Amino acid sequence: MAAYSDSERLAELRAFDATKAGVKGLADAGFTSVPRFFVHPDPDLERTPRANLQVPVVDLGGVAADPARRAAAAAAAGGAAEALGLFHVVNHGVPQQVLDEMLERVRGFHEEGVEVKGEYYTRDLSRKVVYNCNFDLFQTQAANWRDTLSFSMAPEPPRPEELPLACRDIAFKYASYVQKLGTVLLELLSESLGLNPDHLIKMECADGLRFFMHYYPACPEPHLTLGTSKHSDSGFITILLQDSLGGLQVLRQNQWLDVPPVPGSFIVNIGDLLQLISNDKFKSVEHRVLANSSGPRISVACSFSTNRATSTRLYGPLNELTSHNNPPRYKEVTMTDFLAHFNRKGLDGRSALDHYKL
Ligand code: OGA
Ligand code: NI
Repeated sequence: MAAYSDSERLAELRAFDATKAGVKGLADAGFTSVPRFFVHPDPDLERTPRANLQVPVVDLGGVAADPARRAAAAAAAGGAAEALGLFHVVNHGVPQQVLDEMLERVRGFHEEGVEVKGEYYTRDLSRKVVYNCNFDLFQTQAANWRDTLSFSMAPEPPRPEELPLACRDIAFKYASYVQKLGTVLLELLSESLGLNPDHLIKMECADGLRFFMHYYPACPEPHLTLGTSKHSDSGFITILLQDSLGGLQVLRQNQWLDVPPVPGSFIVNIGDLLQLISNDKFKSVEHRVLANSSGPRISVACSFSTNRATSTRLYGPLNELTSHNNPPRYKEVTMTDFLAHFNRKGLDGRSALDHYKL
């Protein structure tokens, strides 16, 4: 292949970005190969052998009324957060119809013409609604085969008319369910740490809620690129809904393992800030999404954080979890500073937490 200069690459990125049509636009145009700027240089794409991860399951059935079930769920969530940083949630109370509609509506948005979705295409993360291909397109070495629509639903939900019509109604409905679920999960995680049930809630860990609605078109050369490159999530917890296509993997003891879709369940993963305040007791698991020759794959990640825009609260390892023998491992940081660092860095394969290590 001819040398690919930085200026050539930048020109191609700019031209692509200006289409406002994302990867979906390339797929629609009938591309049979991936443009060069999507090609990942790392040999880490070794796909074989594929193996499934045994994903711990947290059963939320009866946790509100039955103390024994609640204790079992707290132990299961805490154990999984420590050992792996990820678990499935079942009997979560969100109707299947709501999950199905959410995925269908996200697909609907991404399959709108560019005259509709292009209105929302931006690299300005302060806009209320952000649609783009790779938030870090101009920062990372290689782009991912993915488009994303994102917006905050808490603490200040957008006005309905500010959201794209395709997912307007479902976004509010889904947010009300997911907020309740996030609260229960943070309560259970608090309990598993030996804290009061409302400890993490009082620390504003569920004040902010942002949706990331991903669309991974079928990829003509899935062995050359990725859907989402290796990263851990920035917030406290993420509640992820994936469709039935698969492709999500987690890194466990240097091996990438598949997280197989379980219909009707959510995946919950621990984010960097919860690892930080738990002083590494809970693990912010590294994960990625493979590109796939079939598609589109659709997923919705809901990230819980504090109020991203205005919070000045400092987060550091909790006093209750540190001691003379287990001193704090991280500096204190505000969510705003952490997110600025996370977004500036992009998904470059390194942990954003390293920057705050003592
Ligand atoms: C994310 C993420 C996984 C997926 O949004 O942080 O890891 O399945 N998404 O899309
Ligand atoms: Ni993630």
